[in-house]
Amino acid sequence: MFGNLQILPPDPILGVTAAFRRDPSPNKVDLGVGVYRDEFGNTPVPAAVREAERALIAEQSTKVYVGPAGNLEFNERIVELALGSLAAQLKDRTATIQTVGGCGALRMGAELLHAAAPDSVVHVSDPTWANHEPLLGNSGIALQRYPYYEPKTRSVAFDRMLDHLQRLPAGAVVLLHGCCHNPSGVDLSLGQWDAVADVLDQRGLVPFVDLAYQGFGDDIETDAAGLRLLAGRLPTLLLAISCSKNFGLYRERAGAFAIIAEDAATARAIATHQARTGRRMYSMPPDHGAAIAARVLGDAQLRQAWQDEVAAMVARMKKLRALLADRLSARRPDVDFSWLTRQRGMFSLLGLEPAAISALCSEEHVFMPPDGRINLAGVSDANVDRVADSIVRVLGRG
Ligand code: LMR
Repeated sequence: MFGNLQILPPDPILGVTAAFRRDPSPNKVDLGVGVYRDEFGNTPVPAAVREAERALIAEQSTKVYVGPAGNLEFNERIVELALGSLAAQLKDRTATIQTVGGCGALRMGAELLHAAAPDSVVHVSDPTWANHEPLLGNSGIALQRYPYYEPKTRSVAFDRMLDHLQRLPAGAVVLLHGCCHNPSGVDLSLGQWDAVADVLDQRGLVPFVDLAYQGFGDDIETDAAGLRLLAGRLPTLLLAISCSKNFGLYRERAGAFAIIAEDAATARAIATHQARTGRRMYSMPPDHGAAIAARVLGDAQLRQAWQDEVAAMVARMKKLRALLADRLSARRPDVDFSWLTRQRGMFSLLGLEPAAISALCSEEHVFMPPDGRINLAGVSDANVDRVADSIVRVLGRG
């Protein structure tokens, strides 16, 4: 039955982790998969998350099913984290389901779109996270790209983006990265969000916001400002939330998918479709991660401690951006590396030719996905000179 299946190429991002593990070099550096790392290269569980987890385990008396929508407290609190005070205002118009991480949220959104409006097209940024197109497209929904990144200036290709959006037909869905654009690290300014909101509104376009890095750009509130601007103005909005990075809950697969609908009656109907979609794919989401996040968010002290830990992570990533830019500039004063410090979140694109990127992995033992995206959190005081030497050695290759 399966004899005709051929071995597939490795996943562009997860394959980097496997290649890194296989490399016997003692000096290898992993700038691949988007996980936060501390100065020792570890991905710690935030202390507030650990504390909430300990309390949960101590209190848990049953493992009975949580129900198709998942943990309702989690759903409410995570949407409140994303939308701030708007959440209460939009509560009746919001239908939320706990999902299998942020990926599950994106997929849930695509499945619902495909069921409700099978002809709709989701427009994703060019470039976008390597798994966006496979993950959304596998639902059967059609995908197209809109211009987003300008490699020459290493900033948002805003005029081209806006011009493109202005030509889309009513009902087109536009996937926007809430903050910390993956892979480019370039985000819309608030003024640009405002202009995008105008176009979406005028053209009858539907935003689908992927919020996977809230708190990793500047802080929890600032990183959600664009999303909140859209949510306050547009009749319909889709929102995918991940707790993988900011709560450090990666393997627990905690996330949520929400739709803000035009009215409360539509939201109530959507909730039934969310539940049925989940039931048909995996029945119901896992409990543990979402229960932890709900507990952290519901306890003022834990919440503050967690926010302080997120703030420390982002401060470290900003410091590493400056450090790498500095070490690169010291080696090549003729080349501008200031873009590293202007960009946000974990990622930036090196902007090198494929031959240079492949040499970084195979000759220099510095690993990254084939698009040349680097995870800044993989840089450390201990390896920054080695990373800078390697990048400088392959500059101009290809
Ligand atoms: C990444 O972009 O590296 C992360 O979101 C992890 C993943 O699943 O690709």
